[in-house]
Amino acid sequence: MILVTGGTGLVGSHLLYQLVSENKQVKAIYRRAHTLERIKHVFSYYTKNHKELFNKIEWIEADLNNIPALELAFKDVAYVYHCAAFVSFEPNKYYQLRNINIEGTANIVNLCISNKVKKLCYVSSIAAIGNEANSDHLITESTEWNPEADNSVYAITKYGAEMEVWRGTQEGIPAVIVNPGIILGPGYWKGGSSGNLFRLIHKGLTYRTSGTTGYVSVWDVCDIMNKLMHSDIINERYILISENLSFNEFQKKVAKALNVKPPKKEAGRLMLEIAWRLDWLVSKLFGKRRKLSKQLAKSIRTKTVYDNSKIKDALQIEFNSIDSAIDQVSKYYLNDNTKL
Ligand SMILES: NC(=O)c1ccc[n+]([C@@H]2O[C@H](COP(=O)([O-])OP(=O)(O)OC[C@H]3O[C@@H](n4cnc5c(N)ncnc54)[C@H](OP(=O)(O)O)[C@@H]3O)[C@@H](O)[C@H]2O)c1
Repeated sequence: MILVTGGTGLVGSHLLYQLVSENKQVKAIYRRAHTLERIKHVFSYYTKNHKELFNKIEWIEADLNNIPALELAFKDVAYVYHCAAFVSFEPNKYYQLRNINIEGTANIVNLCISNKVKKLCYVSSIAAIGNEANSDHLITESTEWNPEADNSVYAITKYGAEMEVWRGTQEGIPAVIVNPGIILGPGYWKGGSSGNLFRLIHKGLTYRTSGTTGYVSVWDVCDIMNKLMHSDIINERYILISENLSFNEFQKKVAKALNVKPPKKEAGRLMLEIAWRLDWLVSKLFGKRRKLSKQLAKSIRTKTVYDNSKIKDALQIEFNSIDSAIDQVSKYYLNDNTKL
């Protein structure tokens, strides 16, 4: 039996679709019943039998910090995909992030140990990998994390969660960690997901930025997680990116696929420096949610290039192109958007 956490999220829902399509026995945890509708919607992209496939999943209500509920979820489980996390760059969410991402992962690791699971696959992020001082240098799995750097609250907690997984490996749990770049996939058009970028660009985003980062499709991420789980590979981490692209190039490609105009104006360093401070002030004065933290403002203008050769060599695979991922996600977006 397989257990998937975060099954109601972008990665988890696509992974669940892949696993049940392969007739695997799967359990998944959820927190609120209404979020299960998202999975049905994601499944409906790919098959007319979506209800039948959805009903094959054994759903257990459990929060990552509710140990008794998690204990029930772990019954008869041999393999665990831990995809659940709180994705936020808001500095004032730091303790909530720690609670879900670090302590929640510690709970999953502890239950893997006490239930003697055969393998754990943890979804981390490129945010949990260190940075190179020289932006032309490729970032690899061995690039060292610098705790003194001005890391985002999200990055700190994803790194802390990885530490919990490595502790689990020391206590005998075979594990693999994947570190995806920005994951492109359909169905999640709001919130912190990349789908929100498609929505904003479609609505007519004004500003573009010049930073560079790695992108990967959700289909590649799930495929690789599935392959790693079935391989003999243990206790390794892998960067999952198909291509490194500037935000500017990415925004242009998405705008083209959605048949709208790309953002015209460049948001330079000075503008972003002012913008994050204003964002902070507005949040203090009016209690509004932070949209642009200092660290996020820096990362969207920073050039970071990631090396994907370790996973390509390990599994002898090639990634699908980002152009094809953008085309597919855009088609699903336009289809969903006409129904909204
Ligand atoms: N999306 C990306 O671009 C990206 C890039 C790199 C790495 N990642 C990593 O990939 C993983 C999956 O991301 P995603 O994009 O699928 O995120 P997502 O769409 O935001 O989904 C997050 C999932 O985690 C669940 N969750 C959050 N807090 C929880 C808690 N306290 N207890 C139980 N479940 C909880 C959510 O449940 P609810 O539905 O109840 O909220 C949801 O199912 C995360 O670990 C993320 O850090 C994502």
